[in-house]
Amino acid sequence: MTVSAPYQEFPVATTFGLEVPAKVMALGFADASNPHIPAKSDGYAFRRVFLRELLAFLRDPSGDALYVTGPTGSGKTSGICEVAARLNWPVQQVTCHGRMEVTDLIGHHTLMSRVPGETPVMTFQHGPLAVAMREGHILLLNEVDMMDPGELSGLNDVLEGRPLVIPQNAGEVIKPHPMFRVVVTGNSVGNGDATGLYQGIAMQNLAAMDRYRIVEVDYAKPEVEAKILAAVAGRLPENLRDRMISVANEIRRLFKGEEGMGGEIAITMSTRTLVRWAKLSIRFHKAVNPQGERNALAYALDQALLRRARPEEKEAIVRIASDTFGDQWVDGDQGDD
Ligand SMILES: Nc1ncnc2c1ncn2[C@@H]1O[C@H](COP(=O)(O)OP(=O)(O)O)[C@@H](O)[C@H]1O
Ligand SMILES: [Mg+2]
Repeated sequence: MTVSAPYQEFPVATTFGLEVPAKVMALGFADASNPHIPAKSDGYAFRRVFLRELLAFLRDPSGDALYVTGPTGSGKTSGICEVAARLNWPVQQVTCHGRMEVTDLIGHHTLMSRVPGETPVMTFQHGPLAVAMREGHILLLNEVDMMDPGELSGLNDVLEGRPLVIPQNAGEVIKPHPMFRVVVTGNSVGNGDATGLYQGIAMQNLAAMDRYRIVEVDYAKPEVEAKILAAVAGRLPENLRDRMISVANEIRRLFKGEEGMGGEIAITMSTRTLVRWAKLSIRFHKAVNPQGERNALAYALDQALLRRARPEEKEAIVRIASDTFGDQWVDGDQGDD
């Protein structure tokens, strides 16, 4: 299949740094200058299954929306944005909350001046949904399971490919652009939170959920997190980075518990926190912590995670770290410079 401007095909192997046949292509836009295209970070580590499912959806949603589910800080939002960035696909991004309404996504009237100082006039401002639908952007709704289920089902018509009608704006009708996509992220899959690990999660309605394709993103495997840390904290010796990843996985195991129903601690180490820990370990390389010790790893772990932990959790996590690092925990051998 050949596509022409304004669209473009991108080879998956070179665009995302994965070993796939050279003829495997991803669909995107030719124009790289749209201000709504997300920024990309070099060295972002893409995962094969996630990429396959996301790219398949972006090319041909067949009337579905995409629900990306997984634990906090596992790479849901960044994964979607990093893909869009490389395909020049503009994104309208919103973080949901309990009081959010569909009308917040559609748009509202507001007083606006056309030139500074001029008397403002009532103008209709299109919201992220209306813009995404009209322009062919990805509408990315983060933490969608925080949203009231009734509100979310207000999107059903749009998800089914019907035009958006805006009564407040003289009945304006917006037809869906062929590149319009809806992608949402959440910690649950619309079934509330049976584990009690997350707060504020609402049970979504079954009919609304039936419109989504599900993609699961767990914390990346150690070899992928090794790539992530190599990219963001390559100055730390590899053996330290590997041990940090072991500590993270041990903390996650304690957080989830044996049955995945909540474990001994109520705090976990996301990839986001792991990255923060590694970066701070470099930054605090020569620093002395508030306890008067020179241990950059411990100091950085404290600031990255432990200051929001309860005392007994903190103790458990420090024990994991000191067991894992052994002598390095005390000596704090944090590499060159
Ligand atoms: N595959 C990855 N490659 C590089 N960094 C990653 C990756 N996955 C997660 N991260 C890091 O973790 C942070 C949090 O990820 P994010 O996508 O916001 O998580 P989520 O949306 O699942 O809560 C990102 O900003 C990035 O620093
Ligand atoms: Mg997110």
